[in-house]
Amino acid sequence: MDKNFYITTPIYYPSAKPHMGHAYSSILADFFARFKKIDGHNVHFLTGTDEHGLKIQRAAENEGKDTLEFCNELSKTFRDLSNILNLSNTDFIRTTEKRHKISVQNLWQELKKNDDIYISKYSGWYSVSDEAFYSDEEIEDINGKKQSIISKSAVEWMNEESFFFRLSKWEKSLLKYYEDNPDFLSPESRKNEVISFVKGGLKDLSISRKSFSWGIQVPENKEHVIYVWLDALTNYISALNYPDMKDSLFKKFWPASVHLIGKDILRFHAVYWPAFLLAAKIPLPKKIYSHGWILSGEEKMSKSKGNILDPIKIIKEYGLDPLRYYLIKEVSFGNDGSISKERLEDCINSDLANNFGNLCQRVVSFAFKNCSGEIPSQIKFLDEDLKILEKFKTDINLIRKKIDKLDVNYYINYIVDRLFEANKYFNDQEPWKKKDDILRLNSIVYTSLEIIRKICIMLFPIIPDSSIKALKIFGMNESDINFSSIEDHMKLDFGKKINQINILFKKIEKNND
Ligand code: ME8
Ligand code: MG
Repeated sequence: MDKNFYITTPIYYPSAKPHMGHAYSSILADFFARFKKIDGHNVHFLTGTDEHGLKIQRAAENEGKDTLEFCNELSKTFRDLSNILNLSNTDFIRTTEKRHKISVQNLWQELKKNDDIYISKYSGWYSVSDEAFYSDEEIEDINGKKQSIISKSAVEWMNEESFFFRLSKWEKSLLKYYEDNPDFLSPESRKNEVISFVKGGLKDLSISRKSFSWGIQVPENKEHVIYVWLDALTNYISALNYPDMKDSLFKKFWPASVHLIGKDILRFHAVYWPAFLLAAKIPLPKKIYSHGWILSGEEKMSKSKGNILDPIKIIKEYGLDPLRYYLIKEVSFGNDGSISKERLEDCINSDLANNFGNLCQRVVSFAFKNCSGEIPSQIKFLDEDLKILEKFKTDINLIRKKIDKLDVNYYINYIVDRLFEANKYFNDQEPWKKKDDILRLNSIVYTSLEIIRKICIMLFPIIPDSSIKALKIFGMNESDINFSSIEDHMKLDFGKKINQINILFKKIEKNND
């Protein structure tokens, strides 16, 4: 079994401050990274900022700032957000770093060496907002203004000398790759979209610009800078010290396990990036998953539309873990979803405060009153205890498989079901009526505590801080969290003192007028 796991987020444009959409991708990537870590993998988790190109150059000009200074300031807001979101990323890359530039220029030379690059002239539509070329069929005219049909962003006519990548040459190889590797692209609907795009015919891709200078120079021609997407995509390997393919990071973590992206940048990742890699004879990533959009009303939340929600404000108001929980549970992974404070508050009240927090409080305070604050040592399980405990053991490999398919929805629903079942068990068993049958009372308390331990471990990738806080009941620390241990039903040490915990989640007062 492959014990190395490498996951990436897109590297975000620091053209403005991060918004909820960026937070969403990063939190989801963190969920997988944390799960794999507690399941015994060596995890490398990369995020960062994509700092070249006309979009950034213009954004800096608009603010009257030096481009690099502008990038320094805004890149820092993304780095700060990584901390605020409690991401477990092991690296943060900026495309203005030297390690990245060297890597991009090397990749260029590799493509050139293999005869995949030639010079010609590009005439066509370009969207600076998307940093993308569009064909005539992909453009619409709205009140005399040309825009992309897909992204709705404005396009401008571009006509200049440019280097090209022989994308057309890779059409068949790409289609064969998608067919031979059915798990490469998901969800399925997006895979089909990509396949039909490629089947529609690939044109060679313009990969350099001459009319501005904010980018990495083309090695053999100082008048050109490398197209920002060729530059940006390379981050996934420059962070592993490419071109040194003997480097331990590269050897350990390439090919990447998962590139997690939004559906807006599917074509770049599912068509261009694999074609560049095929041309450079570098193995392809194992999986590209494109999730849906956080909407604002009916539209994609985006800085260019100005309809953004600031994750930092939401976190100040409600706390980080409620936001993480909400994004993972309520935005069905793979689909678009909107954010509402109403539903966030419902999550906090019913799932986090009631089903989870209250279960912990009730069981612990019962154990303090009736078992002298210790893990009971005299126990005898009945079938109803074993049934609820064994469920985790029976399902553990299924859960792992679902995670490998990136089925977050399954994972979170599984936990919600276990919480429901645990609360029902404690109510139905009525341990408060068993004061004359201490063996039974002890067994119910032991079982309930053991379920809490298992659920807290499962919650760790979703709400890490709260999970660690709850695991203090058992004196456990982050380094003690191990997913395999949910299989074991007798993990709690007989007679060991347990700890009281503070309220995990405060209920939100709702007024119903
Ligand atoms: O495209 N809902 O950067 P970007 C969900 N630099 N996710 C969203 C979102 C929304 N409303 N808005 C943004 C770029 N995202 C390039 C990427 S990668 C080599 C280069 C997330 O700042 C989502 O992951 O426009 C989306 O793909 C990404 O941010 C785009 O961020
Ligand atoms: Mg974008």
